[in-house]
Amino acid sequence: MKRVGVIGFPVAHSLSPLMHNAAFAALGMSDWHYDAMAIPPDILRLGLSEPKNHGYIGINVTVPHKEAIMQFVRPDEKARAIGAVNTVDFRSNIGTNTDADGFINDLRAHDVPLAGSRALILGAGGAARAAVYGLTRAGAEVAIVNRTAARALNLVQRLSASAGVEGVQVLTLEAAADWNMALLVNCTSVGLHPHSERTPWARRLPFPAGITVYDMVYRPATTALMRQAAAHGGRAIGGLGMLARQGAIAFELWTGVPPPIDVMLGALRGALAGETEDG
Ligand SMILES: NC(=O)c1ccc[n+]([C@@H]2O[C@H](COP(=O)([O-])OP(=O)(O)OC[C@H]3O[C@@H](n4cnc5c(N)ncnc54)[C@H](OP(=O)(O)O)[C@@H]3O)[C@@H](O)[C@H]2O)c1
Repeated sequence: MKRVGVIGFPVAHSLSPLMHNAAFAALGMSDWHYDAMAIPPDILRLGLSEPKNHGYIGINVTVPHKEAIMQFVRPDEKARAIGAVNTVDFRSNIGTNTDADGFINDLRAHDVPLAGSRALILGAGGAARAAVYGLTRAGAEVAIVNRTAARALNLVQRLSASAGVEGVQVLTLEAAADWNMALLVNCTSVGLHPHSERTPWARRLPFPAGITVYDMVYRPATTALMRQAAAHGGRAIGGLGMLARQGAIAFELWTGVPPPIDVMLGALRGALAGETEDG
């Protein structure tokens, strides 16, 4: 049996086992299996060494371990730039981060123009770091708004030091309303189930007309922010494709087999459709 999996805490809610096992089944890879493993932070080292010693090929890493795990693996250039590892290959002990490429691949799959376009990022956590890294690498002009401005400034400084990313502005939401962005990316958790009536774009501010909104939140499938974009003549894309595509990169890394993206996306859509309208 060839085993892979995800470590996190908690991890029971993770959709990754369903997505990867659906891919293995669709390709007849019956000797592969993907598990979810709940690892409390105080035994993180064990949570890494035990699967490795038991023959796992690799693992995904999710909250709260993505940063702490870096001391136990060899982070590659992307992981070092973003400051977090979400995928490990035990054969090389290299840790990488597939979020930025998963995000950019999904934007490209939706034909969203990137090079030379203005992109506004809402948020300054791990997802925002991946988005800023990916978008600047793709040639976009990037600005950030975050509730805690100091955290946004820190993100900009860190990405400059770790990856030589320059020219990223930190704005207030009021200033961003006049910034003329083509793309708005929600990298906050605002709007996530069960608070799905909330939006990171304050309703007191005019909503920019005709822009593309990418909401990394994928529960619910259509967020309040996505509805605001549609109501103002814009386009709205939810975060499920990013989830599938970051997983697809890990799948190919471990197996060497081209990932069945449609199967992975279909498994995710099926799982979320089974939840409540809000979920
Ligand atoms: N689609 C995908 O594949 C994918 C991948 C990664 C993440 N995500 C999603 O992206 C979101 C962020 O993830 P993360 O790992 O970056 O989380 P994180 O590191 O905890 O960062 C959370 C961000 O949300 C902001 N925030 C939280 N509550 C807020 C509120 N009430 N008002 C304004 N801002 C608020 C925080 O602002 P402060 O700094 O002011 O606290 C921070 O910028 C989550 O919903 C996650 O599920 C999706």
